Amino acid sequence: MKLVNIFQILALLFTAVYAATTDNIEDQEQQQITNFINTNDGHTNNWAVIISTSRFWFNYRHMANALSMYRTVKRLGIPDSQIILMLSDDIACNPRNAFQGEVFNNADRQLELYGDNIKVDYRGYEVTVENFIRLLTDRWPKEQPRSKRLLTDENSNIFIYLTGHGGDEFLKFQDAEEISSYDIADAFEQMYEKKRYNEIFFMIDTCQANTMYSKFYSPNIISCGSSALHESSYSHHSDVEIGVAVIDRFTYFTLEFLENITTTSTSTLNDLFDFYTFEKIHSNVGISTDLFDRDPKDVLITDFFGNVQKTVIDEPTEDYIYVYDGDKEDYEDDEPVVVKIIDSNVREIKKNVTESNNVIKLSNKQNSGLLSSFALLGSVIAAFALAYSKF
Ligand SMILES: *[C@@H]1O[C@H](CO)[C@@H](O)[C@H](O)[C@H]1NC(C)=O
Ligand SMILES: *[C@@H]1O[C@H](CO)[C@@H](O)[C@H](O)[C@H]1NC(C)=O
Repeated sequence: MKLVNIFQILALLFTAVYAATTDNIEDQEQQQITNFINTNDGHTNNWAVIISTSRFWFNYRHMANALSMYRTVKRLGIPDSQIILMLSDDIACNPRNAFQGEVFNNADRQLELYGDNIKVDYRGYEVTVENFIRLLTDRWPKEQPRSKRLLTDENSNIFIYLTGHGGDEFLKFQDAEEISSYDIADAFEQMYEKKRYNEIFFMIDTCQANTMYSKFYSPNIISCGSSALHESSYSHHSDVEIGVAVIDRFTYFTLEFLENITTTSTSTLNDLFDFYTFEKIHSNVGISTDLFDRDPKDVLITDFFGNVQKTVIDEPTEDYIYVYDGDKEDYEDDEPVVVKIIDSNVREIKKNVTESNNVIKLSNKQNSGLLSSFALLGSVIAAFALAYSKF
């Protein structure tokens, strides 16, 4: 009698473990597929905040730095509605500009950065410490237009880029005021508490830049700065006709790297960090991953410099998932890309999905072998229990 009870209990236990784990695996599988297609870290939308903080013609390069980063995130697919551009001065229309209405980041003047497609969200004296903090924390008077707000959520990856004049744990805004590393750290904490981001990539080009992220304490932030404590950041080169430096070294080389990136690139943040050398930058670039869960080797550049472009609509069937271009709302207009599930290499999948004829496999199917043995064991015990109970 006792023996029967033990068998029955064991059988129940194994069956329960099997059921629980199976459910869990299915959830994981669904999540994994969504992540595969959307991104590799679970974010579903991308935002960029790009700011130059200094005034005056001789700071031309700071505006050019910011406009160059703006152009890059736009080229890689972040729409203007998800980019906040703050330009502290209008060098394009400065009377000293020999090329009225134009801004260049290189003396070769091959690439004009101002053009018709610039949407500046905050200009001139609107670029203040207060507005920057309000933007991050989204604390505004009711009448603040949506286009001037950072409408992020817990699934947003945000790239934040700052350039201007700075020092030990501060960055000047407009020559009139300063923001400290503590101010930004506390704003990030509020963002974290209000679930306003999934991950943040903070990048800053200024003197003693690396001190600016030294006080951050909220999770899922990766930071990068152009120079160490007591170090200057340097400009790259001047344009004789413009008469001033047109770009800073750190930003110049960041752009050189990013120019090779496309929406389907598999380059990682680690590749970018490895690209920075003292010989190029003339100062010690700083990188902080202390607050970041993922290894930079696993973080695609496009996780921050790009936009999530694919959305999974249907529940996956056994072997296939259906992927639509564009937003969920208007997916009916799009032809789905049918994706077969066969491999779990996230980077390749991301690439292949964009190239169509895609093949994807989920690695956790392997686990089902182990689970089946649990189930088998459960049934054998149950059979024994049944047999014994006949006596
Ligand atoms: C960009 O790609 C070109 C051509 O493949 C290569 O020569 C160059 O070194 C690359 N630059 C960077 C910064 O990776
Ligand atoms: C991605 O496509 C390439 C060829 O286009 C193929 O060799 C590779 O196996 C594919 N990767 C996956 C995960 O399907």
